[in-house]
Amino acid sequence: MTTSSSTHAIDQVIQSRHSVRAFLDQPVHVNMIKEILAVAARAPSGTNTQPWKVYVVTEQKRQDIVQQVCDAQKDINTHPSLSADHQETFAYYPQTWKSPYIDRRRQNGWALYGLLDIQRGEKDKMAAQQLRNFKFFDAPVGLFFTVDQSMGVGAKMDIAMFMQNIMLAAKARGLDTCPQAAWNHFHSIILPLLGADEDEELVCGMALGYADPKAQVNQLETPREAVEDFAHFLAK
Ligand SMILES: Cc1cc2nc3c(=O)[nH]c(=O)nc-3n(C[C@H](O)[C@H](O)[C@H](O)COP(=O)(O)O)c2cc1C
Repeated sequence: MTTSSSTHAIDQVIQSRHSVRAFLDQPVHVNMIKEILAVAARAPSGTNTQPWKVYVVTEQKRQDIVQQVCDAQKDINTHPSLSADHQETFAYYPQTWKSPYIDRRRQNGWALYGLLDIQRGEKDKMAAQQLRNFKFFDAPVGLFFTVDQSMGVGAKMDIAMFMQNIMLAAKARGLDTCPQAAWNHFHSIILPLLGADEDEELVCGMALGYADPKAQVNQLETPREAVEDFAHFLAK
């Protein structure tokens, strides 16, 4: 088996992408964003339906969304019953967790909190970190992905592939990202601010910008299972 330089380059981009949760205050040129979206739109989709729609928010629009969602989250922190007003339209996570997924989730959470020096029971610090989601972790660019509600669950698979392409195309250009399902709870605030149609459903958000290389939180290294543990090779 030979390995070409493009194989190496693609593997390098895939392996170096990780979720960044602290960005520099450095703008991203709109032409760069357009280039990333154009290349990402080469993603496959069932019968080439290309069901993705993406809203790119910067400057005042980004600020308006950040302000309103942070206010809503702070209200929930004070009055937890208000969370009932902000339900996701589809369940990204299971109602009941089981192993090994719950274990990996916990491991991920504690690794993140460890880097941020957040100890068990430090609810205020946890809430503050949760709020960082709703500031796009200070990234200057926010992306929101929506789908027409009439589309099936497969369209969300298509959008996930589009999103992964964006994350890789961004990484190849020196940019970083964090996919953010956290925004989905606040679709009723966000969609009107985006001017979205009534048929649109919020699928995910994403932070995009230049990573802060000095931020501890960006040092998080997430493990992966070995191929032998998740792949089954069957020949007869
Ligand atoms: C669809 C999706 C939604 C996610 N939502 C969030 C989020 O709301 N906030 C966050 O901090 N990370 C979020 N993540 C990032 C995951 O925690 C991260 O991908 C995982 O821990 C693996 O780490 P890595 O991306 O650095 O490889 C999300 C990831 C995916 C794929």
